[in-house]
Amino acid sequence: MSNLTFSAPCLFGMEGIVANELRFMNVQDVKAETGRVLFSGDFSTLAKANISLRCAERVQILVGEFYATSFEELFDNVLRLPWEEFIFKNEAFPVKGNCLDSKLMSVSDCQKIIKKAVAKRLGDKYSTAWLCEEGSVHQIQFLIRKDKVSILLDTSGPSLHKRGYRKESNDAPISETLAAAMVELSRVRKDHFVTDPMCGSGTIVIEAALKALGIAPGINRSFSSELWKCIPQEVFAREREYARSLERKDANFFAVGSDIDSQALELAKKNAELAGVSEYIEFVNKDLHDFTLERERGTLITNPPYGERLLNIKEAEELYRTMGKVFKRCPGWSYAVITPDDDFEKCFGRRADKRRKLYNGMLQCQLYMYYL
Ligand SMILES: C[S@@+](CC[C@H](N)C(=O)[O-])C[C@H]1O[C@@H](n2cnc3c(N)ncnc32)[C@H](O)[C@@H]1O
Repeated sequence: MSNLTFSAPCLFGMEGIVANELRFMNVQDVKAETGRVLFSGDFSTLAKANISLRCAERVQILVGEFYATSFEELFDNVLRLPWEEFIFKNEAFPVKGNCLDSKLMSVSDCQKIIKKAVAKRLGDKYSTAWLCEEGSVHQIQFLIRKDKVSILLDTSGPSLHKRGYRKESNDAPISETLAAAMVELSRVRKDHFVTDPMCGSGTIVIEAALKALGIAPGINRSFSSELWKCIPQEVFAREREYARSLERKDANFFAVGSDIDSQALELAKKNAELAGVSEYIEFVNKDLHDFTLERERGTLITNPPYGERLLNIKEAEELYRTMGKVFKRCPGWSYAVITPDDDFEKCFGRRADKRRKLYNGMLQCQLYMYYL
């Protein structure tokens, strides 16, 4: 099926990065909006985006978008959408969503109306009054903002940040998609040396390795739409094969992750093995105070304690002062540090060459970037 419109929701601040990822895949009609990126294509595009997007949270089919201020309008508009093109007889279609600043504000009522409209459309098409919903799951999602209704079909299943390599986590792990965005903004390439001196469970160095080696983040996981009857079986297989053909195992990439917590490093090692990149990363038990620039060139990317879940704010700021001392100005090195602390630059002792607003979950942060 061609000419589908897709939506890739992402963390606030990452829309431009996701849009660039899609453009790099030669995807059509890419348009960044707040919190999501729209694009168009066919089922191959759907599979490619799920397998290869590093910074988006999921891939949805935008089945329809319209304004509604009453349940009748909601029902009629949902009824008009071509559900039978995606949901075959007896496949499951649960509904969930949320409402904000709209006349229709009862999520549970909207959920029931949408379910009823889709069931009516499918019942009429398949000439049955009873749909037993035993087959593969087509999660319908709705978003009602300022009376504008977006009706979406999720194609990913578990969120795309779940690459499959982080089975257990430490106290304050960074999301894989945010780590991937920091790697992207630090312009990590296939011959780079990357280091994270507060690596915890290793997410940043693992995402850097995946990027440098051209390994698609979703290559080893499955997606809910793989089980849909409307998508020919070979579509995902072909896109996985294509993604594998882009891997660069000959890359001259290497990374070092260090941390003061030896248990976190044990997790990091396991995670790197599961991600298939352990031969490209060394993990070292080391205090930040002992950090030195052991190479001529390098890219440092780190997610230090914020003084919330780990350490208190005074201790965190003390660590930022230490960073200012040990991350020395050096041609060939760049540093990127993410934190919500507005006083970071004051503690670090230098103004950043560039800053980028990024959200760690709901927490507004800045990525402070230093080029030497
Ligand atoms: C926010 S966590 C990093 C989480 C990591 N990005 C991940 O995905 O798991 C901060 C890390 O800083 C480490 N840390 C705190 N003080 C440190 C120090 N003085 N030297 C090295 N690491 C330190 C903690 O052990 C913790 O793992």
